[in-house]
Amino acid sequence: MRDHSDQGLPVLNLRVRKAVESDQQAISDVVIAAFGRVQGQEIRDLITHLVADPSAQPLLSLVATTDDHVVGHILFTNARIKNPQRMVPSALLAPLSVHPEYQNQGIGGRLIKEGLEYLRAAGFELVFVLGHPGYYPKYGFSPAGAKGFEATYPIPPENSCAWMVQELQPGVIGHVSGKVICADALNDPKHWQE
Ligand SMILES: CC(C)(COP(=O)(O)OP(=O)(O)OC[C@H]1O[C@@H](n2cnc3c(N)ncnc32)[C@H](O)[C@@H]1OP(=O)(O)O)[C@@H](O)C(=O)NCCC(=O)NCCS
Repeated sequence: MRDHSDQGLPVLNLRVRKAVESDQQAISDVVIAAFGRVQGQEIRDLITHLVADPSAQPLLSLVATTDDHVVGHILFTNARIKNPQRMVPSALLAPLSVHPEYQNQGIGGRLIKEGLEYLRAAGFELVFVLGHPGYYPKYGFSPAGAKGFEATYPIPPENSCAWMVQELQPGVIGHVSGKVICADALNDPKHWQE
């Protein structure tokens, strides 16, 4: 598998920055373009609920822009591990969207990578994602179940590889385990079908 962590960026003037209030419509447009109208509207609403959800805090919302035009978005929300051996600051990555006209140019990877850097600097130790098992391992994620992290809702065994984790500080995985509890707005089985 190709390692995308240092992928060059062919998109001119690509910038990743924290999202601001006035990006809301542009983020919605990217999400709907990326996921299609029906699923996109659900995901747009999920983002709105997560941003307003106190249990999702602290959260990190980043946009990728090219010439000041939003072409990608990523959201990380707070998560916690039930009955951990110690408190482990954790986040959940969801959702990630890149406008179809800008896909396969490393923008998703850049959003993931910069997001992880922000979270590492903020003291987060673990990041979880439920997503494409062919995609997220390019950016450092690996199956979480085998490492002792149970998803908020059960993942069918045939999709167990879609539940992934990455440590942001060395030596966390292997010393902590438990069920991952997500923000309230994500705490619905419909968001846990991969
Ligand atoms: C998934 C998504 C965010 C990737 O963004 P991107 O900027 O196109 O991705 P990158 O440029 O960082 O990476 C491209 C690589 O990932 C691969 N890839 C893209 N989507 C993939 C998927 N769903 N499953 C597996 N691999 C995928 C590409 O084939 C490419 O691989 P290659 O370079 O080895 O040929 C984007 O395609 C998207 O918004 N999709 C629709 C929404 C979605 O599915 N979001 C993720 C929810 S978990």
